[in-house]
Amino acid sequence: MARFVTVAKADSIQPGQMVKVEIDNLPVAVANVGGTFHAFDDTCTHEDCSLAEGELARTVVTCPCHFAEFDIRTGAVLAPPATVPLKVYPVRVEGNDLQVEF
Ligand code: FES
Repeated sequence: MARFVTVAKADSIQPGQMVKVEIDNLPVAVANVGGTFHAFDDTCTHEDCSLAEGELARTVVTCPCHFAEFDIRTGAVLAPPATVPLKVYPVRVEGNDLQVEF
């Protein structure tokens, strides 16, 4: 059953920054876009690269390996070679706790 898991302090992730966290041993990326947080699977759906090590341009993440692009709000693929959308997760901030529903 889904529950909210505290993954970081909200003020530790600056606008424009992405970090990789682990929830139940699954790598999840959390991004701060102008004060709004988004969480999504850290592993690119193309191969096995960490998206948190890629580039973030507003709500678009570019994979560092072969440059697939995803919309981190929806998980939609915006540029190949990836074809499978990313899984995204609801995020909330409780006090200064950044929580991901997982
Ligand atoms: S592993 Fe991400 S584009 Fe290939």
